[in-house]
Amino acid sequence: MQVDSALEQLLVQRLPFVAQVGAVRATRGTVPPEDVAHFPPTWSEKRAREHWAGRKAAARALEPYEVTEVVGRDPEGVPLFPSPLAGSIAHTGTRSVLGLCVVSDQVRTLGVDVEIRKPLGPELIERIIDAKESRLLEAVDAALGDSALWAFCAKEAYYKCVYPSHRRFLGFHEVSFHLTEAPSGPSGADDGIVTLDCTLGEKALGDATVGRIVLTEEFVVAFAWQSRDGG
Ligand SMILES: CC(C)(COP(=O)(O)OP(=O)(O)OC[C@H]1O[C@@H](n2cnc3c(N)ncnc32)[C@H](O)[C@@H]1OP(=O)(O)O)[C@@H](O)C(=O)NCCC(=O)NCCS
Repeated sequence: MQVDSALEQLLVQRLPFVAQVGAVRATRGTVPPEDVAHFPPTWSEKRAREHWAGRKAAARALEPYEVTEVVGRDPEGVPLFPSPLAGSIAHTGTRSVLGLCVVSDQVRTLGVDVEIRKPLGPELIERIIDAKESRLLEAVDAALGDSALWAFCAKEAYYKCVYPSHRRFLGFHEVSFHLTEAPSGPSGADDGIVTLDCTLGEKALGDATVGRIVLTEEFVVAFAWQSRDGG
């Protein structure tokens, strides 16, 4: 197991509330056989490795809160963090998998997603953003080279943030992404500030959710959260 403490520190600094982040990388052969034995036999080596990396990252993020139990998962795959903590897990990569977890007792809900920085193809872009979002992003990134991935990552983080309370499947076009500030990076410069909300038909899901996009050389990381007072 390889801990990415530089990424952990960077992400902790970037969140506007007190939070803990765990970041763990795992290559083939990293997961001990005794841990593999606990996973469903249908899981591929990569699936086992990403789940393992996510749980190791969670253990690191939970350490300062003195939580030693392994984070469970409900029948729908939602990770179960002990109250009053809000938390979320993500993973990405193939040969080297990154497991990422963020935990905080300062917010009501929290979602995180991480993606390797690479441009998305036109078909995928169309599935993720609508014409309005596209215009917004083109203003800061004419070719949508990097920015469509910001929207993808932010919408996935939003989904993880709201799903545990609403239990509704949401498509990419049901969630709207508004970029208040564009990120500049990699690492060290400014983060992207976003608001995300969801309208199902005429009805808003009703939760104001804010988010932050952090760029590193290698990754896009998106956080989404709802504050304790619902704002
Ligand atoms: C939940 C979902 C977004 C996860 O995305 P992913 O690319 O498969 O996986 P990631 O690496 O980003 O994250 C996986 C982790 O998310 C967490 N997770 C899974 N389902 C979740 C849910 N419904 N709510 C919150 N967290 C969830 C789990 O901890 C999981 O890791 P684990 O299974 O090892 O415990 C995806 O599987 C999904 O269900 N998508 C359908 C809805 C959607 O994407 N709509 C478009 C955006 S609005």
